[in-house]
Amino acid sequence: MNIYETPRLVAEYLLFHYGEDQDILPWSLGPASALGFPKRSVNELLDPSRLPASARALDLGCAVGRSAYELAAHAGEVIGIDYSHAFIDFAERIRRGQDVPYQRADEAALSTDLIARRPVSGDPARITFEQGDAMHLRADLGAFDIVHAANLLCRLTQPALLLERLPALVKPGGQLLLTTPCTWLAEFTPPENWPPGRTRDWLRQALEPHFTLESEIDLPFLIREHARKFQWSVALGTRWRRCQ
Ligand SMILES: C[S@@+](CC[C@H](N)C(=O)[O-])C[C@H]1O[C@@H](n2cnc3c(N)ncnc32)[C@H](O)[C@@H]1O
Repeated sequence: MNIYETPRLVAEYLLFHYGEDQDILPWSLGPASALGFPKRSVNELLDPSRLPASARALDLGCAVGRSAYELAAHAGEVIGIDYSHAFIDFAERIRRGQDVPYQRADEAALSTDLIARRPVSGDPARITFEQGDAMHLRADLGAFDIVHAANLLCRLTQPALLLERLPALVKPGGQLLLTTPCTWLAEFTPPENWPPGRTRDWLRQALEPHFTLESEIDLPFLIREHARKFQWSVALGTRWRRCQ
């Protein structure tokens, strides 16, 4: 069973991507700097200064789609791809302008009814969502000025397959925005496919023949499980420039 197809994870990710800050974190003592990750994973890594007028962007592992709207502020065409049919279905319903009801878990059987709405910024006409496998992307996808893959690598059974495809996916001079919390788990990735040492060193070894590492930042994020339980993680965020 793919957990990203389950109603619990759909609701968690609708809240993570489209929830108001106060709906996610009702505690003034909580880690507020970790809110807004689907926006920050684009905006804190992207270099907006060197993009062509009609840039193409790809969001791999886009989940329910929030980062695509940030990419659409900089690109005339954005494709969001995720392996989960349920996530893509919700991403597309929101993109079409539907108000999507979901339940936020509070405590025990208690929950709160919330609505996921399309963001006001980021032209939805520029965005398409499709179900697909980041390890076996369709051959006719073309190349992109921006490829964004947030917290995807350590959810792949064979992350090396994506790393091998990346040089062809990013145009010369284009940007690769990668984030990973380095949460390698056997339930997603067989241990023989984990980085042999630090994830950062493994990425450099795989990418540096084709990319230059331009930026490296820590990106905290917060996923709410219920009102008193949260996952607080710190992703390693990197921006890589495809060599000319
Ligand atoms: C940890 S979530 C991150 C989602 C989103 N990028 C974010 O930062 O909120 C991992 C995502 O990768 C997707 N995923 C897992 N395996 C995939 C694959 N082989 N191809 C594409 N997406 C995949 C999952 O469905 C899920 O949406």
